[in-house]
Amino acid sequence: MSGSEWGNAPPACSRRLLALAGRAPNKIQSSPDSQPAASPSLSPSTTMSTSLVARALPGVARSASTSLALVSRRPPHPHHALQRRFESTIESAVATKAKVVKTLPDFSMANKVCMVTGAARGLGNEFCRAFAQSGCTQLAILDLKEDEAQQAADELVKESCVDSDMDPSDYNIIGIGCDVSSELSVQQAYRRVMDRYGRIDSVVASAGIVENYSAFDYPFDRIKRLYDINVHGAFFTAREAARHMIPQGGGSIVLVASMSANIVNIPQPQTPYNAAKAAVKHMAASLAVEWAKKGVRVNCLSPGYMLTKLTKTILAHDTELKKTWESLTPMGRMGDPEDLAGAVVFLSSDASRFMTGSEIRVDGGYCII
Ligand SMILES: NC(=O)c1ccc[n+]([C@@H]2O[C@H](COP(=O)([O-])OP(=O)(O)OC[C@H]3O[C@@H](n4cnc5c(N)ncnc54)[C@H](O)[C@@H]3O)[C@@H](O)[C@H]2O)c1
Repeated sequence: MSGSEWGNAPPACSRRLLALAGRAPNKIQSSPDSQPAASPSLSPSTTMSTSLVARALPGVARSASTSLALVSRRPPHPHHALQRRFESTIESAVATKAKVVKTLPDFSMANKVCMVTGAARGLGNEFCRAFAQSGCTQLAILDLKEDEAQQAADELVKESCVDSDMDPSDYNIIGIGCDVSSELSVQQAYRRVMDRYGRIDSVVASAGIVENYSAFDYPFDRIKRLYDINVHGAFFTAREAARHMIPQGGGSIVLVASMSANIVNIPQPQTPYNAAKAAVKHMAASLAVEWAKKGVRVNCLSPGYMLTKLTKTILAHDTELKKTWESLTPMGRMGDPEDLAGAVVFLSSDASRFMTGSEIRVDGGYCII
């Protein structure tokens, strides 16, 4: 068999099958057993494999069936077990493939260049994971420390290749150090994203902090810092996104607000945080109106109580608080970061193409009572 019969660049699924079969084509190619026998006889299992390949993987049917035919023509020999393993691996892989049902393509993040702030950990990191799981391969992870952002990028690439046909080289995911409270730092981060990818399609502004002080006790420098990160940071992130998205024809921006934009949390005091998140929610609506005819959509995602480092820090000082929060949530539990995956992909993808200036609350029902 010549190399060209397998094609110069076999599709990922055929590469996967070959890998699973212990690099079978090389072995077939180099084995004297691969010479066609005088009267080939296909076993029933091999015939089924071939037809399944043809039905489920038309793109690779020719090469796969060729290899199966060659395998089947081998006389029995000490490597028979390898042949059976190859056949049964292909059978099970193809049978699984044949059962894959179609999903709405609008939810795909494939071919989109994405960026998430505050994404070395917490919800931002989970948003990156959701994008990668939905097909995104070009992604910039922003956080305060570049090494932590890069580490998150490396981990995401590694994780995305597990149980997947993808190789690390299929991903273009980078970590960038950026303080969203500095307009210059945000602009420099966008410059690096544009230099690297040439465009930006979906941006999520997730960087944010929370602190609990009563109004009388809250030091003013800390209030200022909170607004610099949570409000001005979201504004800088959105404005730079739109500056790049408008010339390219549009894009999607998601500002992460909070259920605190709509309700007053109890029992912990956090007036500046609540007011900041209400500002972020209304910022999304206001920017949406400014850029609606320019193709840039701006929506806001408002989580309820989610178990991340941010909330774990608060709960570490107050074990009763978790029980209180759960009892105030109709669904009776705090959210897992993964509970936001569907909402962020919806807002960032073409699935929400007629939606702008809206808010999606994902809070286990907290705000409805
Ligand atoms: N966790 C919750 O329950 C919850 C609920 C509602 C809303 N939110 C919001 O979700 C967002 C993410 O929260 P989280 O729970 O993932 O928090 P987190 O503390 O786990 O993660 C926040 C990330 O933002 C980064 N960050 C902080 N300041 C930054 C800055 N100036 N520039 C760049 N990055 C910075 C941190 O380094 C960290 O990686 C925040 O905006 C928060 O207000 C969280």
